[in-house]
Amino acid sequence: MKLFVTGGAGFIGSNFVHYVFARRPDWAVVNFDKLTYAGNLANLTALASHPRHRFVRSDICDGAAVLAAMRGCDAVVHFAAESHVDRSIYEPAPVVRTNVIGTFTLLEMARELAVPRFLHVSTDEVYGDLPPGEAADEDYPLRPSSPYSASKASADLLVLSYVRTYGFPAVLTRSSNNYGPYQFPEKFLPLMITNAMIGKPLPLYGDGGQQRNWLHVADNCRGILAALERGRTGAVYNIGGLDVEANLDMARRVLRLLGRSESLLSHVADRPGHDRRYALNSSRIAADTGWRPKVALEEGIRQTIEWYAEHSEWLAAVRDGEYMSYYEKFYENRNASLQAIAGTRKD
Ligand code: NAD
Ligand code: DAU
Repeated sequence: MKLFVTGGAGFIGSNFVHYVFARRPDWAVVNFDKLTYAGNLANLTALASHPRHRFVRSDICDGAAVLAAMRGCDAVVHFAAESHVDRSIYEPAPVVRTNVIGTFTLLEMARELAVPRFLHVSTDEVYGDLPPGEAADEDYPLRPSSPYSASKASADLLVLSYVRTYGFPAVLTRSSNNYGPYQFPEKFLPLMITNAMIGKPLPLYGDGGQQRNWLHVADNCRGILAALERGRTGAVYNIGGLDVEANLDMARRVLRLLGRSESLLSHVADRPGHDRRYALNSSRIAADTGWRPKVALEEGIRQTIEWYAEHSEWLAAVRDGEYMSYYEKFYENRNASLQAIAGTRKD
Protein backbone atom coordinates (compact mmCIF):
# COMPACT_ATOMS: atom_id res chain seq x y z
CA MET A 1 0.00 0.00 0.00
CA LYS A 2 1.37 3.40 -0.98
CA LEU A 3 -0.41 6.35 0.72
CA PHE A 4 -0.52 9.93 -0.50
CA VAL A 5 -0.86 11.90 2.75
CA THR A 6 -1.52 15.65 2.63
CA GLY A 7 -0.65 17.82 5.64
CA GLY A 8 1.58 15.10 7.09
CA ALA A 9 3.90 17.65 8.74
CA GLY A 10 1.05 19.10 10.83
CA PHE A 11 -0.30 17.88 14.15
CA ILE A 12 -2.69 15.04 13.27
CA GLY A 13 -1.02 14.25 9.92
CA SER A 14 2.41 13.67 11.49
CA ASN A 15 0.88 11.55 14.27
CA PHE A 16 -0.90 9.54 11.57
CA VAL A 17 2.26 8.96 9.52
CA HIS A 18 4.10 7.70 12.64
CA TYR A 19 1.08 5.57 13.51
CA VAL A 20 0.96 3.99 10.04
CA PHE A 21 4.67 3.09 10.00
CA ALA A 22 4.33 1.52 13.48
CA ARG A 23 1.23 -0.55 12.53
CA ARG A 24 1.77 -1.19 8.81
CA PRO A 25 5.59 -1.36 8.48
CA ASP A 26 5.50 -2.50 4.84
CA TRP A 27 3.47 0.52 3.64
CA ALA A 28 5.00 3.56 1.91
CA VAL A 29 4.01 7.21 2.36
CA VAL A 30 4.32 10.21 0.06
CA ASN A 31 3.96 13.08 2.52
CA PHE A 32 2.78 16.20 0.66
CA ASP A 33 2.83 19.40 2.71
CA LYS A 34 3.31 23.10 2.01
CA LEU A 35 4.96 23.73 5.40
CA THR A 36 2.85 26.71 6.41
CA TYR A 37 3.42 28.13 9.92
CA ALA A 38 1.62 24.98 11.18
CA GLY A 39 3.73 22.46 9.26
CA ASN A 40 6.92 21.37 10.97
CA LEU A 41 9.58 18.96 9.71
CA ALA A 42 10.70 18.50 13.32
CA ASN A 43 7.49 16.45 13.74
CA LEU A 44 9.00 13.94 11.30
CA THR A 45 12.63 13.81 12.50
CA ALA A 46 12.42 10.11 13.36
CA LEU A 47 11.50 9.37 9.71
CA ALA A 48 14.27 11.45 8.11
CA SER A 49 16.06 8.42 6.65
CA HIS A 50 13.06 6.06 6.46
CA PRO A 51 13.30 4.25 3.10
CA ARG A 52 9.52 4.35 2.45
CA HIS A 53 8.80 7.91 3.56
CA ARG A 54 9.12 10.61 0.88
CA PHE A 55 8.49 14.23 1.79
CA VAL A 56 7.33 16.64 -0.93
CA ARG A 57 7.06 20.33 -0.08
CA SER A 58 4.22 21.71 -2.19
CA ASP A 59 0.74 23.18 -2.26
CA ILE A 60 -2.46 21.12 -2.65
CA CYS A 61 -3.82 23.93 -4.86
CA ASP A 62 -1.04 23.23 -7.40
CA GLY A 63 -2.64 20.60 -9.65
CA ALA A 64 0.51 19.73 -11.62
CA ALA A 65 2.54 19.17 -8.42
CA VAL A 66 -0.25 17.07 -6.93
CA LEU A 67 -0.59 14.97 -10.09
CA ALA A 68 3.16 14.22 -10.27
CA ALA A 69 3.42 13.24 -6.59
CA MET A 70 0.14 11.29 -6.43
CA ARG A 71 0.87 9.08 -9.45
CA GLY A 72 1.23 5.42 -8.42
CA CYS A 73 -0.41 5.86 -4.99
CA ASP A 74 -3.12 3.46 -3.83
CA ALA A 75 -4.94 5.80 -1.46
CA VAL A 76 -5.14 9.49 -0.49
CA VAL A 77 -5.48 10.55 3.15
CA HIS A 78 -6.25 14.27 3.12
CA PHE A 79 -5.37 16.22 6.29
CA ALA A 80 -3.97 19.46 4.80
CA ALA A 81 -5.96 22.50 5.87
CA GLU A 82 -5.85 25.89 7.47
CA SER A 83 -7.13 24.46 10.75
CA HIS A 84 -7.41 27.30 13.27
CA VAL A 85 -10.82 28.91 13.82
CA ASP A 86 -9.44 32.17 15.26
CA ARG A 87 -7.12 32.73 12.29
CA SER A 88 -10.02 31.99 9.92
CA ILE A 89 -12.00 34.80 11.55
CA TYR A 90 -9.20 37.34 11.14
CA GLU A 91 -8.11 36.20 7.66
CA PRO A 92 -10.53 33.90 5.80
CA ALA A 93 -8.95 34.00 2.31
CA PRO A 94 -6.16 31.39 2.82
CA VAL A 95 -8.68 29.18 4.63
CA VAL A 96 -11.14 29.11 1.74
CA ARG A 97 -8.30 28.69 -0.76
CA THR A 98 -6.67 25.68 0.91
CA ASN A 99 -9.71 24.01 2.42
CA VAL A 100 -12.06 24.38 -0.57
CA ILE A 101 -9.93 24.91 -3.69
CA GLY A 102 -7.19 22.62 -2.34
CA THR A 103 -9.68 19.80 -1.70
CA PHE A 104 -11.25 20.33 -5.13
CA THR A 105 -7.79 20.10 -6.76
CA LEU A 106 -7.05 16.83 -4.94
CA LEU A 107 -10.42 15.39 -5.99
CA GLU A 108 -9.76 16.25 -9.62
CA MET A 109 -6.25 14.79 -9.63
CA ALA A 110 -7.31 11.62 -7.80
CA ARG A 111 -10.15 11.20 -10.29
CA GLU A 112 -7.81 11.65 -13.24
CA LEU A 113 -5.42 9.03 -11.82
CA ALA A 114 -8.29 6.74 -10.73
CA VAL A 115 -6.82 6.39 -7.21
CA PRO A 116 -8.84 3.55 -5.63
CA ARG A 117 -9.43 5.14 -2.16
CA PHE A 118 -9.71 8.73 -0.86
CA LEU A 119 -10.13 9.51 2.83
CA HIS A 120 -11.18 13.10 3.51
CA VAL A 121 -10.49 14.31 7.06
CA SER A 122 -13.19 16.65 8.31
CA THR A 123 -14.49 17.95 11.62
CA ASP A 124 -17.43 17.96 14.03
CA GLU A 125 -17.50 21.77 13.63
CA VAL A 126 -19.55 21.34 10.45
CA TYR A 127 -22.58 20.58 12.69
CA GLY A 128 -22.21 23.91 14.55
CA ASP A 129 -23.58 24.56 18.04
CA LEU A 130 -25.52 21.70 19.63
CA PRO A 131 -28.36 22.21 22.13
CA PRO A 132 -27.83 20.64 25.59
CA GLY A 133 -28.51 16.91 25.60
CA GLU A 134 -28.09 16.41 21.83
CA ALA A 135 -25.27 14.57 20.08
CA ALA A 136 -24.80 14.89 16.30
CA ASP A 137 -24.84 11.74 14.20
CA GLU A 138 -23.67 11.86 10.57
CA ASP A 139 -27.12 12.88 9.27
CA TYR A 140 -27.37 15.91 11.58
CA PRO A 141 -27.86 19.21 9.66
CA LEU A 142 -24.70 21.10 8.67
CA ARG A 143 -24.73 24.54 10.33
CA PRO A 144 -21.15 25.76 10.35
CA SER A 145 -20.47 28.99 12.26
CA SER A 146 -16.97 30.21 11.34
CA PRO A 147 -15.19 30.67 8.01
CA TYR A 148 -13.10 27.64 8.99
CA SER A 149 -16.04 25.33 9.64
CA ALA A 150 -17.93 26.64 6.58
CA SER A 151 -14.88 25.87 4.41
CA LYS A 152 -14.70 22.34 5.85
CA ALA A 153 -18.44 21.80 5.25
CA SER A 154 -17.98 23.07 1.68
CA ALA A 155 -15.16 20.58 1.12
CA ASP A 156 -17.29 17.75 2.59
CA LEU A 157 -20.12 18.58 0.18
CA LEU A 158 -17.73 18.59 -2.77
CA VAL A 159 -16.36 15.17 -1.77
CA LEU A 160 -19.89 13.77 -1.35
CA SER A 161 -20.93 15.21 -4.71
CA TYR A 162 -18.02 13.33 -6.34
CA VAL A 163 -19.18 10.11 -4.67
CA ARG A 164 -22.70 10.53 -6.01
CA THR A 165 -21.87 11.91 -9.47
CA TYR A 166 -18.68 10.10 -10.42
CA GLY A 167 -18.83 7.03 -8.17
CA PHE A 168 -15.68 8.48 -6.56
CA PRO A 169 -14.29 6.08 -3.91
CA ALA A 170 -14.24 8.44 -0.92
CA VAL A 171 -14.75 7.98 2.82
CA LEU A 172 -15.09 10.94 5.20
CA THR A 173 -14.21 11.23 8.88
CA ARG A 174 -15.44 14.02 11.16
CA SER A 175 -13.58 14.07 14.43
CA SER A 176 -13.96 16.13 17.55
CA ASN A 177 -11.21 18.24 19.22
CA ASN A 178 -7.88 16.41 19.12
CA TYR A 179 -5.06 16.82 21.62
CA GLY A 180 -1.70 15.13 22.13
CA PRO A 181 1.95 15.32 21.00
CA TYR A 182 3.09 17.78 18.30
CA GLN A 183 0.07 20.10 18.52
CA PHE A 184 0.90 23.71 17.64
CA PRO A 185 0.39 25.86 20.76
CA GLU A 186 -2.16 28.19 19.16
CA LYS A 187 -4.78 25.53 20.02
CA PHE A 188 -6.49 25.48 23.42
CA LEU A 189 -4.89 22.59 25.29
CA PRO A 190 -1.22 23.14 24.31
CA LEU A 191 -1.70 26.88 24.88
CA MET A 192 -3.00 26.21 28.40
CA ILE A 193 -0.22 23.69 29.13
CA THR A 194 2.66 25.77 27.77
CA ASN A 195 1.45 29.00 29.42
CA ALA A 196 0.91 27.24 32.77
CA MET A 197 4.40 25.72 32.56
CA ILE A 198 5.96 29.21 32.53
CA GLY A 199 3.44 30.88 34.88
CA LYS A 200 1.70 32.92 32.13
CA PRO A 201 -2.08 33.60 32.35
CA LEU A 202 -4.43 31.03 30.79
CA PRO A 203 -6.78 33.01 28.49
CA LEU A 204 -10.36 31.70 28.59
CA TYR A 205 -12.71 33.11 25.97
CA GLY A 206 -15.82 34.53 27.64
CA ASP A 207 -17.04 32.56 30.66
CA GLY A 208 -15.09 29.41 29.69
CA GLY A 209 -18.31 27.37 29.78
CA GLN A 210 -18.05 26.24 26.13
CA GLN A 211 -17.88 22.45 25.83
CA ARG A 212 -15.76 20.34 23.53
CA ASN A 213 -15.62 16.57 22.99
CA TRP A 214 -11.92 15.83 23.65
CA LEU A 215 -10.23 13.09 21.62
CA HIS A 216 -6.66 11.87 22.01
CA VAL A 217 -4.90 12.04 18.64
CA ALA A 218 -3.90 8.35 18.92
CA ASP A 219 -7.60 7.42 19.09
CA ASN A 220 -8.26 9.55 16.00
CA CYS A 221 -5.37 7.96 14.05
CA ARG A 222 -6.69 4.51 14.90
CA GLY A 223 -10.17 5.58 13.72
CA ILE A 224 -8.86 7.06 10.46
CA LEU A 225 -6.91 3.89 9.68
CA ALA A 226 -10.01 1.78 10.48
CA ALA A 227 -12.15 3.95 8.17
CA LEU A 228 -9.51 3.80 5.44
CA GLU A 229 -9.26 0.00 5.58
CA ARG A 230 -12.78 -1.04 6.54
CA GLY A 231 -15.09 1.95 6.02
CA ARG A 232 -17.90 1.83 3.45
CA THR A 233 -17.27 3.83 0.29
CA GLY A 234 -19.32 7.03 0.39
CA ALA A 235 -19.83 6.87 4.16
CA VAL A 236 -19.24 9.68 6.67
CA TYR A 237 -17.86 8.57 10.05
CA ASN A 238 -17.92 10.66 13.22
CA ILE A 239 -14.94 10.06 15.51
CA GLY A 240 -15.62 11.44 18.99
CA GLY A 241 -13.68 11.16 22.24
CA LEU A 242 -14.82 9.70 25.57
CA ASP A 243 -15.25 13.03 27.38
CA VAL A 244 -17.20 16.25 26.83
CA GLU A 245 -15.78 18.97 29.09
CA ALA A 246 -15.99 22.76 29.50
CA ASN A 247 -12.89 24.83 28.74
CA LEU A 248 -12.77 26.18 32.29
CA ASP A 249 -12.68 22.65 33.72
CA MET A 250 -9.99 21.67 31.22
CA ALA A 251 -7.85 24.65 32.27
CA ARG A 252 -8.36 23.75 35.94
CA ARG A 253 -7.22 20.17 35.27
CA VAL A 254 -4.04 21.46 33.61
CA LEU A 255 -3.28 23.76 36.57
CA ARG A 256 -3.90 20.96 39.07
CA LEU A 257 -1.71 18.47 37.16
CA LEU A 258 1.09 21.04 36.97
CA GLY A 259 0.69 22.14 40.61
CA ARG A 260 -0.08 25.75 39.59
CA SER A 261 -2.50 28.24 41.15
CA GLU A 262 -5.96 28.97 39.72
CA SER A 263 -5.05 32.66 39.93
CA LEU A 264 -3.53 32.08 36.45
CA LEU A 265 -7.05 31.72 34.97
CA SER A 266 -7.83 34.83 32.94
CA HIS A 267 -11.19 35.55 31.25
CA VAL A 268 -10.66 37.47 28.00
CA ALA A 269 -12.98 38.81 25.29
CA ASP A 270 -14.92 36.01 23.56
CA ARG A 271 -14.34 34.65 20.04
CA PRO A 272 -16.89 36.17 17.58
CA GLY A 273 -19.55 33.60 16.65
CA HIS A 274 -18.17 31.15 19.26
CA ASP A 275 -19.87 27.73 19.23
CA ARG A 276 -21.07 26.84 22.72
CA ARG A 277 -21.21 23.09 22.61
CA TYR A 278 -20.10 20.14 20.47
CA ALA A 279 -20.99 16.49 21.08
CA LEU A 280 -20.76 13.53 18.68
CA ASN A 281 -22.53 10.24 18.27
CA SER A 282 -19.85 7.87 16.91
CA SER A 283 -21.89 4.67 16.80
CA ARG A 284 -21.58 4.27 13.00
CA ILE A 285 -17.80 3.78 12.97
CA ALA A 286 -18.14 1.45 15.96
CA ALA A 287 -20.72 -0.66 14.10
CA ASP A 288 -18.82 -0.75 10.79
CA THR A 289 -15.22 -1.13 12.00
CA GLY A 290 -15.29 -1.91 15.72
CA TRP A 291 -13.48 1.38 16.56
CA ARG A 292 -14.05 2.92 19.98
CA PRO A 293 -12.15 5.67 21.81
CA LYS A 294 -9.80 4.39 24.51
CA VAL A 295 -7.88 7.27 26.08
CA ALA A 296 -9.55 8.87 29.12
CA LEU A 297 -9.09 12.62 29.49
CA GLU A 298 -7.16 12.74 32.79
CA GLU A 299 -4.59 10.20 31.58
CA GLY A 300 -4.39 11.75 28.10
CA ILE A 301 -3.76 15.24 29.49
CA ARG A 302 -1.17 13.91 31.94
CA GLN A 303 0.73 12.24 29.07
CA THR A 304 0.43 15.36 26.93
CA ILE A 305 1.84 17.56 29.70
CA GLU A 306 4.76 15.12 30.02
CA TRP A 307 5.35 15.26 26.27
CA TYR A 308 5.57 19.08 26.25
CA ALA A 309 7.84 19.04 29.32
CA GLU A 310 10.17 16.55 27.59
CA HIS A 311 10.23 18.44 24.26
CA SER A 312 11.44 21.85 25.33
CA GLU A 313 13.62 22.23 22.20
CA TRP A 314 10.67 21.47 19.89
CA LEU A 315 8.59 24.02 21.80
CA ALA A 316 11.28 26.72 21.80
CA ALA A 317 11.64 26.40 18.00
CA VAL A 318 7.86 26.55 17.50
CA ARG A 319 7.56 29.62 19.70
CA ASP A 320 9.53 31.65 17.16
CA GLY A 321 8.86 35.07 15.61
CA GLU A 322 5.62 34.07 13.81
CA TYR A 323 4.10 32.60 16.97
CA MET A 324 5.09 35.58 19.08
CA SER A 325 3.55 38.10 16.66
CA TYR A 326 0.44 35.92 16.48
CA TYR A 327 0.28 35.86 20.28
CA GLU A 328 0.66 39.62 20.50
CA LYS A 329 -2.18 40.24 18.03
CA PHE A 330 -4.63 37.63 19.36
CA TYR A 331 -3.97 37.98 23.09
CA GLU A 332 -1.95 41.02 24.12
CA ASN A 333 -3.87 43.32 21.72
CA ARG A 334 -7.03 41.21 21.78
CA ASN A 335 -9.56 43.99 22.33
CA ALA A 336 -8.18 46.17 19.51
CA SER A 337 -8.03 43.19 17.12
CA LEU A 338 -11.62 42.20 17.97
CA GLN A 339 -12.82 45.79 17.62
CA ALA A 340 -11.42 45.85 14.10
CA ILE A 341 -13.60 42.81 13.30
CA ALA A 342 -16.61 44.22 15.16
CA GLY A 343 -16.39 47.30 12.93
CA THR A 344 -17.18 45.05 9.99
CA ARG A 345 -20.08 43.24 11.75
CA LYS A 346 -23.67 44.33 11.26
CA ASP A 347 -25.26 43.27 14.60
P1 NAD B 1 -2.46 21.58 11.42
O1 NAD B 1 -2.79 23.03 11.25
O2 NAD B 1 -1.64 21.16 12.61
O3 NAD B 1 -1.71 21.04 10.13
C1 NAD B 1 -2.12 21.37 8.83
C2 NAD B 1 -1.02 20.93 7.88
O4 NAD B 1 -1.45 21.22 6.53
C3 NAD B 1 0.31 21.68 8.08
O5 NAD B 1 1.38 20.78 8.06
C4 NAD B 1 0.36 22.64 6.90
O6 NAD B 1 1.68 22.95 6.47
C5 NAD B 1 -0.41 21.85 5.84
N1 NAD B 1 -0.99 22.72 4.80
C6 NAD B 1 -1.75 23.83 5.01
N2 NAD B 1 -2.10 24.38 3.83
C7 NAD B 1 -1.57 23.57 2.86
C8 NAD B 1 -1.59 23.60 1.44
N3 NAD B 1 -2.24 24.57 0.77
N4 NAD B 1 -0.96 22.62 0.77
C9 NAD B 1 -0.30 21.63 1.43
N5 NAD B 1 -0.22 21.57 2.77
C10 NAD B 1 -0.86 22.53 3.48
O7 NAD B 1 -3.85 20.83 11.40
P2 NAD B 1 -4.36 19.58 12.26
O8 NAD B 1 -4.87 20.07 13.54
O9 NAD B 1 -3.35 18.52 12.20
O10 NAD B 1 -5.64 19.16 11.37
C11 NAD B 1 -5.51 18.25 10.30
C12 NAD B 1 -6.85 18.03 9.66
O11 NAD B 1 -7.78 17.54 10.64
C13 NAD B 1 -7.48 19.30 9.11
O12 NAD B 1 -8.13 18.96 7.90
C14 NAD B 1 -8.50 19.72 10.18
O13 NAD B 1 -9.56 20.42 9.58
C15 NAD B 1 -8.93 18.37 10.68
N6 NAD B 1 -9.39 18.33 12.07
C16 NAD B 1 -8.60 18.80 13.07
C17 NAD B 1 -9.04 18.69 14.39
C18 NAD B 1 -8.20 19.19 15.55
O14 NAD B 1 -8.69 19.14 16.69
N7 NAD B 1 -6.98 19.62 15.36
C19 NAD B 1 -10.29 18.10 14.67
C20 NAD B 1 -11.08 17.67 13.60
C21 NAD B 1 -10.61 17.77 12.30
O1 DAU C 1 -13.93 20.42 16.90
C1 DAU C 1 -12.90 20.13 16.00
C2 DAU C 1 -12.09 21.37 15.76
O2 DAU C 1 -11.37 21.60 16.96
C3 DAU C 1 -11.14 21.28 14.57
O3 DAU C 1 -11.89 21.15 13.39
C4 DAU C 1 -10.25 22.51 14.48
O4 DAU C 1 -9.29 22.34 13.45
C5 DAU C 1 -9.54 22.68 15.81
O5 DAU C 1 -8.78 23.86 15.80
C6 DAU C 1 -10.54 22.71 16.96
O6 DAU C 1 -11.36 23.92 16.90
P1 DAU C 1 -11.79 24.69 18.24
O7 DAU C 1 -12.16 26.05 17.91
O8 DAU C 1 -12.77 23.89 19.02
O9 DAU C 1 -10.39 24.58 19.00
P2 DAU C 1 -9.50 25.65 19.77
O10 DAU C 1 -8.35 24.88 20.35
O11 DAU C 1 -9.20 26.85 18.98
O12 DAU C 1 -10.47 26.07 20.96
C7 DAU C 1 -11.07 25.10 21.82
C8 DAU C 1 -12.01 25.84 22.76
O13 DAU C 1 -11.23 26.68 23.64
C9 DAU C 1 -12.96 26.78 22.06
O14 DAU C 1 -14.18 26.82 22.80
C10 DAU C 1 -12.28 28.15 22.16
C11 DAU C 1 -11.57 28.06 23.49
N1 DAU C 1 -10.30 28.81 23.61
C12 DAU C 1 -9.36 28.64 22.65
C13 DAU C 1 -8.15 29.29 22.72
C14 DAU C 1 -7.10 29.11 21.66
C15 DAU C 1 -10.09 29.62 24.71
O15 DAU C 1 -10.94 29.75 25.60
N2 DAU C 1 -8.88 30.26 24.80
C16 DAU C 1 -7.91 30.16 23.85
O16 DAU C 1 -6.85 30.80 23.99
